[in-house]
Amino acid sequence: MYKINENYLKLPGSYLFSTIGKKVRAYKEANPDKDVISLGIGDVTQPLAPAVINAMHKAVDEMGKKETFKGYAPDLGYEFLRKAIVLNDYKNRNAFVETDEIFISDGAKSDSGNIGDIFSKDNKIAVCDPVYPVYVDTNAMAGRTGDYLEDKQKWSNVIYMPCVKENNFAPEIPEETPDIIYLCFPNNPTGSTITKDELQKWVDYANENGAVIIYDAAYEAYISEDNIAHSIYECEGARTCAIELRSFSKNAGFTGTRLGFTVVPKDLKCEGVSLNSLWARRQGTKFNGAPYIIQRAGEAVYSEEGKRETREQVAYYMNNARVIREELKSAGYTVFGGVNAPYIWLKTPDNMTSWEFFDVMLNRANVVGTPGSGFGPSGEGYFRLTAFGEYENTIKAIERIKNI
Ligand SMILES: Cc1ncc(COP(=O)(O)O)c(C=O)c1O
Repeated sequence: MYKINENYLKLPGSYLFSTIGKKVRAYKEANPDKDVISLGIGDVTQPLAPAVINAMHKAVDEMGKKETFKGYAPDLGYEFLRKAIVLNDYKNRNAFVETDEIFISDGAKSDSGNIGDIFSKDNKIAVCDPVYPVYVDTNAMAGRTGDYLEDKQKWSNVIYMPCVKENNFAPEIPEETPDIIYLCFPNNPTGSTITKDELQKWVDYANENGAVIIYDAAYEAYISEDNIAHSIYECEGARTCAIELRSFSKNAGFTGTRLGFTVVPKDLKCEGVSLNSLWARRQGTKFNGAPYIIQRAGEAVYSEEGKRETREQVAYYMNNARVIREELKSAGYTVFGGVNAPYIWLKTPDNMTSWEFFDVMLNRANVVGTPGSGFGPSGEGYFRLTAFGEYENTIKAIERIKNI
C-alpha cells in the first residue's frame, strides 16, 4: 500500500489567497452590483514592455524556421541571458558573479521552494515574521518545520524573527543559531527594507556561524534609496554564505510569462561540497529549462529600450505606492513601506484584527487587501495593500477607504 507525504497534512488551512478569493467571491455573489477593487494579490497590471514583446515576436519566428529552431535549453539557461544578467545586475553594481553561477528558471516561487532539495532535512530554518508563505510551507512539506501549533500559529521547529514597527520591520539576530536563514529585501509583505550595512551584519553572522542565507531579491527594482543593496553580493563575504533568488515578475511584468534565476556562487561550500554543483545536479535532473522565447524576452529587459520601458513601469507602480502611502497617512492611518517596495503595510485602526479589517474594507469600501496575520503571527494587526493596481483604480480605492 502506498503512502503519501504526511507532512502535507500538517499544513494549516488553505493558502492565504484562496481564503481571500473565497470571501471575495461570496461577497460579489451576494452583491452583484458592487464594483470590487483589488489591492490584494501581488500581481502586476501593466502590459509587457514593447521591447520585450518585439523580442518575443522575433523568437517566435525563429522557432518556426528549421535553421533557427531551438529545442531544450542548456541546463543553466542560455548564455546570452546569463551574460546580460552578470553585466547589468552584478558587474554594474560592483558585485562579483559569473555566468556559470546563474541558473535560469521559471521564477522565484519555484526556486525558493525547490532550493530546499539540496539541504538536509535536519537543518533549522529562520524566517522573518511576517513572511512570504512559500519559504515556510515548502520547508513544512519537506518535513523540516516540526509540527504546526495552531494556538501560536507557528511551527514548532522554526525560528521566527519578528519584524514589527518597534524594530522598524528589520529582523534581529535570533537567540538560537539557525542553519538556513531566509531574508527578503525589499520585503514582501511589510514593504520595508534594511540598509546595506545591516545586510552586511547578516552576511558576517552567517559566515561566522556556518549558516546559509537564502536571499530573495524579487523586489530589488523598487529600491529608490542609495544605501540599500540591490544584491546580497554587494556585501563582502556573501559569496561564501548566500544564495540569491531573482525574478522578472515584478521588475518587468513577467508574472504570467514566467522567468527568474538563482545565483549559487562557486565559493559557497558546505564541508567542501559545492552547493553550485548540487543545485546544477538538482536542476539538471528535475527541470528542463525556461522557454527560449521567454529567455529572449528576458534578455530584452536588459536592452536600452527594455531598461527604459521597465523603469517606467516600476515608476508607475511606485507612483501608486506614493499615493496610497500619502493619502492614507493624511487620513490618519499609520502606514509603512511603499518607498523601496510596491507594498504598503498599514496598522489596522481601532485595534481591529487583520481579518476584521479585511471584512470592513471589503464590505464598506469594496476594496480587497491582504490580512497581515496571513503572513505570520507578527502580521496580526497589520494589513497589506499593493501598488500593482491601475492608477485610476488605486485612486478610487483610496477615496473609498478614506470614506469608511
Ligand atoms: C518575495 C517573493 N518572492 C518570490 C515571488 C514569486 O516570484 P515569481 O513570480 O518569480 O515566481 C513573489 C511573488 O509575489 C514574492 O513576493
